Amino acid sequence: MPLNTRILLDNRPRGEASVSNFRIETVETPPLAEGQVLVRHHYLSLDPYMRGRMNDAKSYAEPQPLGEVMIGGTVGEVVESRHPRYAPGDQVVGMGGWQQYSVVDASQPGALRKVDTTHVPLSHYLGAVGMPGVTAWYGLVKIIDPKPGQTVTVSAASGAVGSAVGALAKARGCRVVGIAGGPDKCAYVKDELGFDDCIDYRQHRDYPSLAKALKQACPHGIDGHFENVGGMVLDAVMLRTNPFARMAVCGMIAGYDGQPLPMANPALILINRLRVEGFIVSEHMEVWPEALAELAELVGSGRFRPRETVAHGIESAPEAFLGLLKGRNFGKQLVKLV
Ligand SMILES: NC(=O)c1ccc[n+]([C@@H]2O[C@H](COP(=O)([O-])OP(=O)(O)OC[C@H]3O[C@@H](n4cnc5c(N)ncnc54)[C@H](OP(=O)(O)O)[C@@H]3O)[C@@H](O)[C@H]2O)c1
Repeated sequence: MPLNTRILLDNRPRGEASVSNFRIETVETPPLAEGQVLVRHHYLSLDPYMRGRMNDAKSYAEPQPLGEVMIGGTVGEVVESRHPRYAPGDQVVGMGGWQQYSVVDASQPGALRKVDTTHVPLSHYLGAVGMPGVTAWYGLVKIIDPKPGQTVTVSAASGAVGSAVGALAKARGCRVVGIAGGPDKCAYVKDELGFDDCIDYRQHRDYPSLAKALKQACPHGIDGHFENVGGMVLDAVMLRTNPFARMAVCGMIAGYDGQPLPMANPALILINRLRVEGFIVSEHMEVWPEALAELAELVGSGRFRPRETVAHGIESAPEAFLGLLKGRNFGKQLVKLV
């Protein structure tokens, strides 16, 4: 059986995460039992939720156990199978973790899914046509529910989730305004993703200044907002919301290292009669088929061209992950393993 290099969570961060929280080791993959398949991972997905799992704190999911392989989505190919539904060469998406190979109990519901790479490249099944894309779809379609002509804003707009929110909202005839960090990301959001406008939050020292820029970009106010960041960005958006605006609260990455994120004007929820709803995409498995079908169509037809930042080799995963938390990624952050 092949050797497998993998990354474990060694100890929990205090404040900012660092590479010393992880440990790398190489072990032999075990022989397959009946019903199992051996998957060679081609790409590992790095996602902000992993930072939350590193803490031993009460949350919607159990913490990542110490001394075990870091949790993570993977795409790859079956190299050996003792399950009748899988054969060597099948391309599959699963939760293989931060390692080169995984042994999967293929009869477990949802453990593996075969994918078709005729029109959609394999890596996009971890991004636009995978969990981040469905996240965008759920928050936009089920919570914001925008009508043609309405204005939708999204923070972390150039990222895996944010870019998909933009593509889906444009497909519904909305005016879409992104908020992102830096001129390059904003140019990409407007010129390549086709957003109507994008604001560089790094150009603004405080939320009233950012709110002023939003007023220009959203002359008719904001009808729906998709929040990925929290803090100053959320405060600025709330000032520009229209009565009965909907806010899908997807992420609060500005606080993932434990920083408090006080809200400047919570009274606006009442004054503007806002509907504010948080959600976790894995609790809405019923929408995945419909969402994936629309996302695959947008990507397959070239109407949505998502960008990726690719690190190389399993050893690069910790640094790439820390970079994602600092905004060094540009689009979906992946690690290429083959
Ligand atoms: N609720 C769910 O089920 C669910 C599922 C998936 C993802 N999420 C959340 O969705 C959000 C986006 O995830 P993603 O996978 O698409 O990641 P991503 O946007 O590709 O990458 C994270 C981005 O966050 C931005 N960022 C980081 N720190 C920031 C800060 N202090 N202030 C402002 N922006 C900051 C950076 O972009 P800039 O350079 O533009 O700042 C960075 O590139 C995250 O909050 C994640 O936790 C939630």
